[in-house]
Amino acid sequence: MAKKDPNSKSAPNQSQKVTAQPRFHQRAPEIQAYGTVSHMLPLDLEEPVRLEMTEQLNLLLADTMTLRDLYKKSHWQVSGATFYQLHLLFDKHFAEQAELVDTIAERIQLLGGISIAMSADVAETTRIERPPKGREEVPVQLSRLLDAHQIIIGACRKLAERADQLGDDGTNDLAVSDVLRTNELQAWFLTEHLVEEPLVNANDTHLRKAS
Ligand SMILES: [Fe+2]
Repeated sequence: MAKKDPNSKSAPNQSQKVTAQPRFHQRAPEIQAYGTVSHMLPLDLEEPVRLEMTEQLNLLLADTMTLRDLYKKSHWQVSGATFYQLHLLFDKHFAEQAELVDTIAERIQLLGGISIAMSADVAETTRIERPPKGREEVPVQLSRLLDAHQIIIGACRKLAERADQLGDDGTNDLAVSDVLRTNELQAWFLTEHLVEEPLVNANDTHLRKAS
């Protein structure tokens, strides 16, 4: 007699013997399609509102996941005289972006939607330019990060305004208090590294001309 497959679903549930055997390689149809929201939730927000908000939040999520990864790439690949400070700063910003990723993703889920999650889907969705695999110089790393911040900051303002119009205060608050404020602050920390200042000799050309 052939050995019975422990993963077999042929037997009806009531006749299944209780067993400690884990069931592997299981697949089943999705229980909710991407791009949809649950019909009814106790949030006092209509379905079309939640649909629009989750769609916009997913774009913001894809951009935030891309920026998070761009920070890790920069953290690993940075070089030069400012290596130590930038290596640490990039990792600090990475951790803050990772926290934002979770906050945005969980807001999409609580609104009844589906959060984008896997890197291939993120790559298809993000509005941030893909960097090369190789190493780039510090000013280019900083510029790429700032371009990404600018895209996210612009998207945040639009999302916050639309959420306000639709009465979705939670999304408005997340867009402003969490995402916008964090990105503005991080952009400032990067921008200051792009000011060309003398390291040792003060630029006293004007003083010398006057005397
Ligand atoms: Fe590290």
